[in-house]
Order: sequence, then structure tokens, then C-alpha cells
Amino acid sequence: MFAALSILAFSLFALTGCGGVGNGKQIVRVAHSQTEIHPEHVALVEFKKYVEERLGDKYEIQIFPNELLGGQKKVIELCQTGAIDVVVVGAPNVETVERTFELFSIPYLFGSKEAYFATMNDEALTEEIYKTPIHAGFRVVTWYNAGLRSFYAKTPINTPDDMKGLKLRVQQSPASIAMVNILGGAATPMAFGEVYTAIQQGVIDGAENNELALTANKHGEVAKYYSNNMHQMIPDVVLANERFLQNLPEADRKVFMDAFKESNKVELVEWDKKVEEAKKYAIEEQKVTFLNVDMSKFREKMLPLQADIVKNNPSIVKFYEKIQEINDKVAEDKEKKGDK
Ligand code: GCU
Repeated sequence: MFAALSILAFSLFALTGCGGVGNGKQIVRVAHSQTEIHPEHVALVEFKKYVEERLGDKYEIQIFPNELLGGQKKVIELCQTGAIDVVVVGAPNVETVERTFELFSIPYLFGSKEAYFATMNDEALTEEIYKTPIHAGFRVVTWYNAGLRSFYAKTPINTPDDMKGLKLRVQQSPASIAMVNILGGAATPMAFGEVYTAIQQGVIDGAENNELALTANKHGEVAKYYSNNMHQMIPDVVLANERFLQNLPEADRKVFMDAFKESNKVELVEWDKKVEEAKKYAIEEQKVTFLNVDMSKFREKMLPLQADIVKNNPSIVKFYEKIQEINDKVAEDKEKKGDK
């Protein structure tokens, strides 16, 4: 069905032209992978509202959810060429275009949720990372929280041993593949939109993601065990075509950049709310069992991969070291305050 919709969307595209002008207005196309109830969609609606309230006579923002214009790999390509102006993707999908993004795929990179937020809110640090893919035609303009990633499957995964031989879907990135393979599973990379059917039909045994994948994407209907092993906190990144940004008059560009920032604020609040609702729904309605596993067993097995990734990718070393400092500082502060 997605394929058919994509073709339909693309015919529309071809007719109206890229970055086109309709009714005298510049059409700005925004593509993402989530459903209309997801925090990212809510945030993008806010983005649209913010821009159109101020510059509605000049721009019309069109939002395409549900991978309607293609999976994340595809829309990155389309953002590179400028066929789509803005796309939201998981950071690992950028890895093959710009290796700095491998940073976020490192399992157990952040020591805590607080350290993750401290890193993502450190503008000097993130700005440096955000600009790295300009050579490929786009840059990051803001980030969205995509929570904590854990494994879930048709059978319970209590320890890494339970993963032996299981086919588990990962995002389409080398680091994500290595991560499952090091635990003894069989990593199966595929686009997000294909995961539900693949689990349902037994092509894969499970996947790894945040709790919203269980509900918003219905994976909890077909995979009944969610392990709270929390191996990654990966931001979703909002990418904008660089030419599109540079061609905006300066005052308009400021409005767009402010709108991206606003959408980030909205998304973070929505995320916390929706993720709690998702857990409740998954347990009560979908009858998903949440397994409180011993995270250290997963961490121990994945640590050699951390070292490996850093050793083989010089472009991330300084960012990795900075994050270690943030991890230490946050841990110290928590200890002083008497938190665990
Ligand atoms: C999450 C994340 C997406 C990502 C997806 C995936 O939903 O927000 O950006 O693509 O996981 O696993 O593919």
C-alpha cells in the first residue's frame, strides 16, 4: 500500500514541480515516517502553523506523514536533491552519507537520560554536528526526542542469550547491524514501514524501538514481549535542503529557523505524554509484557562495539569524548543531589 501511495504522491510531485510555486506561493514539502498521532507530526503541524501565521502569503507548508514519499533512506536522497525541502529521519539513516552520525548509533553512548538531554541541548556541540552533512546538500535544523530503544519480539528476550538466532529488524545502518549481530541475533535491516508486516508474517522475529512503535505503528499487536534493556537513545533529526535554506530571504529564514525550534519544544512535551500513554495502552489493551531485564548483561556484551566504532571512525572521536565528559558531570551532579 505504501508503494502505491508513494507513486501517487510522486505523480502529484511531477505535476506541480519540486519546491514548486502554487497559487503564487512557494510550496515547502515536509516528509516524515510517523502516523498523524505521533509527537513528530504534532510538532510539524506546529511548525506549519508558526510559519504560515507569519509568512502565509508567501509559503505553503505541505506535510507528508507515514512514509508517503518513501522510507527514510529514500527521503534523505530526495532532500539531497531538493525534491523534498525538509525530512525527519532517525540519525542512523544519515550514517552512510555522513559518518559523523554513527556517533548516535553507539550502544549505551549516554550514561543517563539527563546526559542525553544535556548533550542535545548543548547548542555549540550539536551545531557542529548539524553542519557536517552540508557537503551532501542538507543540514540538521533541529532534533526530536525518539525515546529509549529496546528489543521486542514474539518470544521473551530476558538476556542476550535469548537473542541467539532471532531475526531482528534494525535501522538501515552499519552500526545498527553490528549491534544485533554482536549479541548473537541475526540483524535484518529494513525500512520502518515494513516492520509490522514482516513480524506478522514471520519474516522477522522482532525488532528494537521505543514504546510508541508498539502502539502508533501497531507492532505490539504482533510482538508481545518488550525488554527494557534500553540500548540506545537516538535523536530523530530534522534535515533541510541547504539550497532551500540559503535561497530564503534572510528575514524569512529566521522565521523558519524559529519555527523549527518551536517544533522541537512541542515535540519534547508531546513525547513525554504520548510515551506514557503508549506504555499503558500496550500493557492493558495489546497485552504486551514488559520485561525488566538486567541491562548490564546487554551493556557488557555491547561495550566492545563502542570501542570498535570509535576506533574506526575518527570523525566522531571529539564528540564522543565530549559526551563522556557530559556523562561524568551529570553522574556527579546526580550523586551530589543524592539521586542514583
Ligand atoms: C523511531 C524513530 C524513527 C526511526 C524508527 C526506525 O520511530 O522515531 O525515526 O526511523 O524508529 O526504527 O526506523
